Amino acid sequence: MSQDTERTIEFEFVRATENAALNSLHWLGRGEKEKADFAACDAIYGVFDKVPICGEVVLGEGIKDNAPGIFLGEHLGTWQSGSPAFDIALDPIDGTTNIAKGMPNSISVICGAQTSSSGTHVMKNIPSFYAEKLAYGPRVVHAMKRLGIRQIQLDCPVDEILSVVARALGKRVSELMVALLDRPRHNKLIEEIRQAGAALRLLTDGDITAAVAPSLPDSGIDLYIGIGGSPEGILTAAALKCLGGEIQLRMWPRDQAEMQEIDALVGREERCRIYTTNDLVSGDSSIFCATGISDSYLLPGVKVIGNTAITNTILMRARSRTVRYIKAVHNLDHKTIHLRSDRKDHRI
Ligand code: FBP
Repeated sequence: MSQDTERTIEFEFVRATENAALNSLHWLGRGEKEKADFAACDAIYGVFDKVPICGEVVLGEGIKDNAPGIFLGEHLGTWQSGSPAFDIALDPIDGTTNIAKGMPNSISVICGAQTSSSGTHVMKNIPSFYAEKLAYGPRVVHAMKRLGIRQIQLDCPVDEILSVVARALGKRVSELMVALLDRPRHNKLIEEIRQAGAALRLLTDGDITAAVAPSLPDSGIDLYIGIGGSPEGILTAAALKCLGGEIQLRMWPRDQAEMQEIDALVGREERCRIYTTNDLVSGDSSIFCATGISDSYLLPGVKVIGNTAITNTILMRARSRTVRYIKAVHNLDHKTIHLRSDRKDHRI
């Protein structure tokens, strides 16, 4: 399978997340998260209905939300015979509550990985609703490998994790900035991080941006830790595969019933396993594409100025490791978005 395919198809991912961001923007601050989600999905379907790939959604919404979504097993693309096959993982909006409240930190994300002719999936579908996650950047990965600094593990005490990360980055623990979701389940962890002396950025919602941030040189975030959505963990892995960072992830069942369900599905050993980036997205192909809806660590949100809308997208590929920031200026007198719902082009 030609790598050139990936090089051209990736720009269709940009159109899809740009259109999702533009089409959902109307719902910013209007208290209607499901309508925002529907608008984003409708626009993504509208783009992929014309893209010459055989895309299978291996990780969509539905596990976490009962909201509109693009679901596991759905086909995206034209599916013409001979078209390249992709595993697709997506979150039309990560941070739907943020959109509904008009808050920062919402993005539209699509990831893809080319699959081989055998059709074996290369993106892992983690069956738990939540997962424990630890994400750090390439400098920490390199320091642990090359300088012989002890490897950190998801289940190390947090003060140990912090001192390894600080050493790898040539900082004091007190100079570290850690991001995590502001949830009661993290109260003990928050306390321990503060006691160790690191600073925190607590997030209301949307942990993909926070988990990718430590792998970007200028984000100001050194480490992401905590329990969040499992699908968001796989999307993070797709990004970190392009950036050379690392995520460690382990399923975190919410209760006994979910634990038993998972055990019946994949067995106890898999449930308790710590997955790394390459376990979550195997092979050498990974495309990560995200457009900002409202401002985040990763990207500025959409700005509408007169008859133009400006979008900012990050597009990256594991094979080339190129990271593109694509700023697009859309002329709203001409820009149309093709929607799946009525199969027509619409002005925004
Ligand atoms: P949605 O936008 O899909 O609702 O996800 C938002 C989010 O904050 C994720 O980024 C995060 O992984 C997850 O929800 C955390 O779940 P919860 O809000 O239940 O703690």
